[in-house]
Amino acid sequence: MSGKKRRIALNTGGGDCPGLNAVIRAVVKRCVLQLEWEVIGIRDSFDGLIGPRMDLLELTPDVVAGGLTRGGTLLGSTNRGNPFDFDPTGEGKGQDLSGLVVERLNSLGCDGLIALGGDGTMAICNDLSERTGLKVIGVPKTIDNDLLGTDITFGFNSAVEFATLAVDRLHTTAESHHRVMVVEVMGRDAGFIALHAGVGGGADAILIPEVPFELSKVAEKILDRQVRGRHFSIVVVAEGAREKGGEQIHDGLAASGKTRLGGIGRYVADKLHRTTGIDARYTVLGHLQRGGIPTAFDRILATRLGNHAVDLAVDDMWNRLVVMRANKITDIPLADAVDATKSVSLDCDLVKAARGVGIVFGD
Ligand code: F6P
Repeated sequence: MSGKKRRIALNTGGGDCPGLNAVIRAVVKRCVLQLEWEVIGIRDSFDGLIGPRMDLLELTPDVVAGGLTRGGTLLGSTNRGNPFDFDPTGEGKGQDLSGLVVERLNSLGCDGLIALGGDGTMAICNDLSERTGLKVIGVPKTIDNDLLGTDITFGFNSAVEFATLAVDRLHTTAESHHRVMVVEVMGRDAGFIALHAGVGGGADAILIPEVPFELSKVAEKILDRQVRGRHFSIVVVAEGAREKGGEQIHDGLAASGKTRLGGIGRYVADKLHRTTGIDARYTVLGHLQRGGIPTAFDRILATRLGNHAVDLAVDDMWNRLVVMRANKITDIPLADAVDATKSVSLDCDLVKAARGVGIVFGD
């Protein structure tokens, strides 16, 4: 370990999720209390380095106290702060302010940046490291679990826990009123939340982006249950799922300027009602999946990831992404995680187990 006192910058980018504050806490406790380094928090992803004045927060143990259990991010976040195409109003007049970001980090005397984020943030960080030489260490976050290179991202387990409990709660009304209850969950173009919450909550059908579905197959399953005396059914549908031959359903433009997924739950409920004649309702879990306290699993994962990020900084191993593989924390080149996103493999044991207990995917 180098004996030099260091200063590390830290930011959180993209959608918030449970566990961000727990990673910040782990980094700060290790850096400040054990290594006697300084940690400078940048507010709102890279925005804190871009405005007329820098918006920073010195991260001390007092500032991060209680962070283990607190959802969101104490530094704030944004998913429209790409410094290479800075376009805060989303009007398509983006400016390349990456030079300013690096200049300001250098003016702060930072040895490097620890960035907590999903695929968008990691792509920005990789570009910064490749084009400007910025030293970065990435820590993977997202409830969607769709980041390449890691078995799991922190935030995912908390979202699954919430969605599973929601499915449990919807079971009671489904059963009492002999209804079909459709639950729309997040996940963007990946079906991990739907798959896990569907299996965990005992759904009868799970519809994911990776499997374009035929609603006739789902209706068949529901009617078959009727015949067997099960007068209710639960369908978990990922926001990015689509009918075979159809398109994803969007409900508007997000702040990032990208179209926002939403509405498939209602579509599925309406169509199932019409085809089966059984009363159907839909519930959209939305941002409830991203809020609240992290599960114990995510707190532990966040602490392990944060600690490993500091290990990398100590060893001067930059431009790496901290990952979890086969239950071990390790790291990979940042560049290996940014060209695509991860999706559910239909050969995975969880899909097989779901099919094994009779859950249909509409294929
Ligand atoms: O990536 C996390 C996520 O919650 C996705 O599951 C969802 O599609 C998206 O972010 C929603 O983004 P926003 O909060 O910007 O509407």
